[in-house]
Amino acid sequence: MLYKRSSELFAKAQQVLPGGVNSPVRAFNAVGGNPIFIKEAAGAYLTDEDGRKYIDYIASWGPLILGHAYPPVIEAVTERAKKGTSFGIPTEVEVQIAELAVAMVPNIDKIRFVNSGTEACMSAIRLARGYTGREKIIKFIGCYHGHSDAFLIEAGSGGATFGTPNSPGVTQGTAKDTLLANYNDLASVKALFEANPQQIAGVIIEPVAGNMGCVLPQEGFLEGLRQLCTENGSLLIFDEVMTGFRLAKGGAQEVFGIRADIVTFGKVIGGGLPVGAFAANKEIMSYLAPEGPVYQAGTLSGNPLAMSAGLAMLTALNEHPEVYESLAKKTAYLHQGFEEVLQRAGIPHQINSFGSMFTLFFTESPVTNFVSSSKSDTQRFKRYFHGMLREGIYLPPSSFESYFLNDAITYDDLDKTIKALNRVVLEL
Ligand SMILES: Cc1ncc(COP(=O)(O)O)c(C=O)c1O
Repeated sequence: MLYKRSSELFAKAQQVLPGGVNSPVRAFNAVGGNPIFIKEAAGAYLTDEDGRKYIDYIASWGPLILGHAYPPVIEAVTERAKKGTSFGIPTEVEVQIAELAVAMVPNIDKIRFVNSGTEACMSAIRLARGYTGREKIIKFIGCYHGHSDAFLIEAGSGGATFGTPNSPGVTQGTAKDTLLANYNDLASVKALFEANPQQIAGVIIEPVAGNMGCVLPQEGFLEGLRQLCTENGSLLIFDEVMTGFRLAKGGAQEVFGIRADIVTFGKVIGGGLPVGAFAANKEIMSYLAPEGPVYQAGTLSGNPLAMSAGLAMLTALNEHPEVYESLAKKTAYLHQGFEEVLQRAGIPHQINSFGSMFTLFFTESPVTNFVSSSKSDTQRFKRYFHGMLREGIYLPPSSFESYFLNDAITYDDLDKTIKALNRVVLEL
């Protein structure tokens, strides 16, 4: 049996963890079968509890842009741990990482560190509401901004995977303040502004979406949002939990040349430890406690271990910006390799990729929003996923996710992946 020990562990896990996991997509519900349990990882490779090795295309869902157990991060965390793991009192490393983040990202003066992307987005809309004195927000169908109540309305990622976009437990009262627009559809945003004059605190968006699979903003879309927000006195919030420090040092703001009013971070900023953050200019951030009235706090926020990991990661990216070009080239190589194999096999498909984000959809029509993403053939995806897993290629276990390439992946790994697809297409 290929996954013997993982299966045994999953059986035990189901007795004590709901669904056997601590985050839903990990359970493989969308693809069937049991999840593999990971023993260790280094560079581009995961090793499971049965000793099988996999080329990893998830990178812990994004954080590990330079590969697993990246030595400078491991050293920073190890050294820091020896001096104590948490104080709940300010530390120098918080100032160092804040200075670096503010220098790397355009249009931000101050940053507040939290423990997850969820917390970052949740706090960002509270800040937007406090700053504007308005209550409603606009989000896009298929975008995911973490699991706080206001965002679990037509959310992507696990929400989309399980077909329960409106989770029980989210009240009607909360839902009524979250207005829904269609990705890449400025007219839908304009209509919401017109129907709710002076009521919209902010528009939150994944500037390159990753939670309905990778979906790119069409030309003029982000610019149009910027303009609509400015005209209506609303804040534009870029959720850069995926894209921040991944698409470029300065994230999507830098790549597209668009100024957001508030930016949220997670994933890469923590180097693989639990970190999130939100940032803005001085004026907006002055509304945040203790400087201003908008409350936000956290026992482990700015935790020295997590900050040391994040600082080591951001330092590496800041000193080696060529990583972004390297990743983009590798992603383009994979894109082309997959394209050739799928075309030869005559399998209907669309590949969306941008920077180091990538998704293969099993559909004929271009994927530009949640509706078109949902047309992807999920049965074929299951066969694809399990076929690639058997070949030692670890992909996200849902078609509503983006792959995240890490720079430890070599061209040899990419060739292995393309050859694996060549065999797997025969079963699709
Ligand atoms: C764009 C985006 N925002 C927010 C989140 C939530 O982050 P976290 O899972 O760290 O709470 C995610 C998680 O995948 C995300 O992709």
